[in-house]
Amino acid sequence: MTLKRTVIAGLLTLAGLLALLRFCGTISLAHAAFAATTQPRTRFDAALIARGRALALVGNCASCHTAPNGATLAGGFALRTPFGVIYSDNITPDPEFGIGSWSEADFARAMRDGVTPDGEHLYPAFPYNYFARMTKSDLDALYAYLMTRRPVHMQAPANRLDFPFNLRVLLTGWNLLFLNPSPIAPRPDHTAAWNRGRYLVKSLAHCGACHTPRNWLQGEVADAGLEGGLAEGWTAPAINQKSLSPVPWTQRELETYLSTGIDAQHGAAAGPMRIVTDGLSAAPRSDVHAIAVYIASLMPRTPPRHAPFTHTQPLATAAAIVHGVCANCHGLNAPIAEGRWPSLAASTSLQETSPRNTIQILENGLPLPKTGAGPFMPGFANILSARQVAQVANYLREHVGGRKPWSDATDMARRIRAENQNAP
Ligand code: HEC
Ligand code: HEC
Ligand code: HEC
Repeated sequence: MTLKRTVIAGLLTLAGLLALLRFCGTISLAHAAFAATTQPRTRFDAALIARGRALALVGNCASCHTAPNGATLAGGFALRTPFGVIYSDNITPDPEFGIGSWSEADFARAMRDGVTPDGEHLYPAFPYNYFARMTKSDLDALYAYLMTRRPVHMQAPANRLDFPFNLRVLLTGWNLLFLNPSPIAPRPDHTAAWNRGRYLVKSLAHCGACHTPRNWLQGEVADAGLEGGLAEGWTAPAINQKSLSPVPWTQRELETYLSTGIDAQHGAAAGPMRIVTDGLSAAPRSDVHAIAVYIASLMPRTPPRHAPFTHTQPLATAAAIVHGVCANCHGLNAPIAEGRWPSLAASTSLQETSPRNTIQILENGLPLPKTGAGPFMPGFANILSARQVAQVANYLREHVGGRKPWSDATDMARRIRAENQNAP
């Protein structure tokens, strides 16, 4: 029996025992107090609704709860996890398919404990382990905002998860291991902005949900906060002391990147980070500023050092592709379009241990911004073979990034291509 199976069996047993205990009423879990639910509320103070709207933007509720071309907040956005596909729920106030019949206490319980009013566990693809640390007054504002949206009478698609991960009861065990909602006490030795940023990063903005490494049970690795993780097939880079950015991030650059999706000294948000910056672009600037202040305080002030290596012979095909196809926009080592776009030499993707993000951007490009103007790059999945993509990635890695080529680029390019083709 493998270790993985042993642990799954252990979790199942634990979850089963807990379920039994709860059934017998011998223990009362923290959220039992919420069980006697009151009626849903529909009338709120306008100021509370406005505060909830601002919080929802920082928490990215709409980006993750809206399917491509779907109705806002009606759910159906597909999240790829190692265990299968999880769809976000309808969180409009529709009484049948949304949260229209939920009381404030029901909502707080879902956000903090990951449990629905029916007592069903929610998957942590919904980052309730972060939302659990929000203040009650912030939760009430979010509730007010959601309950005053237009109800959408539509059911989100059912999740497609492998056994045994389709058993929600397993999450009882997961929560015991990984749900640790200690409140965030302000640190008096820091500014108000820094403290606000820290509160948002560790709760509502759930930056670590992507930027922190996870173990194979999808629990976050303890003491590795913001050290870099995986998100939907992309690397979420380290955004603390371990940042590999060749140009150290400043508070001002972070603020620009987070609020516009691109910073001239670094690059553009291209993958899952894009929906985060889309949300933050409409969020209160003071909150984005606070997040930037806090993250900048974690980042290194000098670029990381790397051992020098001997250049390999450039691949003729890769060089021809880069100079023929890419140079129109990316002058090699020079800013694109006369300084309008960042230099590839500043790209963190070319510095990462894994070629993932460089390959993802080559495959998918950079979608046109919703506003029409802004950075755009075509995807090359239909033009280049997976092998050519890998060669181009390594050409850039070596000749622009100044690093030893990745040894797993071809495998990764094939894998990413297959994953993207099977994407939900
Ligand atoms: C990273 C994506 C993501 C983000 C961001 C996110 N959610 Fe969710 N949410 C989900 C998923 C996925 C589910 C369904 C989980 C499941 O099926 O167990 C869910 C479920 C919920 C539920 C339970 C609904 C039900 O019918 O059971 C509520 C309430 C909720 N989210 C509210 C919010 C709010 C409020 C925000 C913003 C502060 C938010 N979510 C942000 C992904 C997300
Ligand atoms: C139509 C113009 C255009 C073309 C053609 C183009 N790119 Fe891009 N590319 C961009 C823009 C704009 C960005 C976003 C700015 C940034 O992130 O540096 C970008 C980003 C990138 C990035 C990510 C940099 C980062 O931030 O991590 C890589 C890598 C890249 N391009 C490589 C290529 C390669 C290789 C080719 C040719 C096969 C190519 N591009 C063709 C415009 C283009
Ligand atoms: C849904 C997952 C996800 C969440 C949530 C998320 N990020 Fe990211 N982030 C990524 C990914 C993936 C990348 C790199 C690729 C890309 O452009 O998407 C990235 C890139 C970044 C970068 C660029 C780093 C570099 O050196 O190039 C910064 C800075 C950043 N994120 C900060 C944040 C902050 C601050 C938050 C919280 C407000 C946050 N992220 C939330 C997934 C996420």
